[in-house]
Amino acid sequence: AGRCVVAVDGPSGSGKSTVSRRLAVDLGARYLDTGAMYRAITWAVLRSGVDLTDAAAVGKVAGEVELRIGTDPQGYGVTVDGTGVDQEIRGPEVTGAVSAVAAVPAVRALLVARQRELIAQAGRIVVEGRDIGAVVAPDADLKVYLTASEAARARRRSAEDAADVAATAADLARRDRLDSTRTVNPLRQTDDAVELDTTELGIDEVVAQLRELLTERG
Ligand code: C5P
Repeated sequence: AGRCVVAVDGPSGSGKSTVSRRLAVDLGARYLDTGAMYRAITWAVLRSGVDLTDAAAVGKVAGEVELRIGTDPQGYGVTVDGTGVDQEIRGPEVTGAVSAVAAVPAVRALLVARQRELIAQAGRIVVEGRDIGAVVAPDADLKVYLTASEAARARRRSAEDAADVAATAADLARRDRLDSTRTVNPLRQTDDAVELDTTELGIDEVVAQLRELLTERG
């Protein structure tokens, strides 16, 4: 099979990761979690101790670390300077700081370039994030924008993180605001994206709909 790039964007808790991974497995394609890349850089920035509001310092740390990420949908690893950070990047410190780090233009330029390389290498890949259809892969074969009610999103995320629903809802609202209002590559739905509201849909239904769309498009 030839090249096939699927871009999956949407806010936190919209079901992006579950849907993207499942779709990649079904298609026999690779999978790229771009959020994990922003999280890994954030982990490095926190470790370095630089001031999060100092964009130049944050950009410098991002440029100096060696970030590696796998693209196997059944299990990928993220390392920073050779240290595995799969657990650490899901912790509250990183989640609390990631939107600030992801708003730094130098960080985005660096990661968007890396993401394009990984996509070109893979050929067939499902890529999830916030700016994939708009910026990273504007020529994707299929662009999907997943949404879900705020209540559903908070419920899913708190279940994943074993956290309190109210605290999770507040954190999601805060990150959505930061991610949608930043000046560089904000969370954005493109005109050519298929919007799917996953509030009432099961994972199987969402994946089946996406596979149907891909078949229709050849
Ligand atoms: O998807 P996930 O919740 O892991 O993403 C963590 C954060 O990384 C988001 O809240 C956002 O600030 C940032 N991000 C981004 N662009 C992407 C993917 C993630 O800015 N393509």
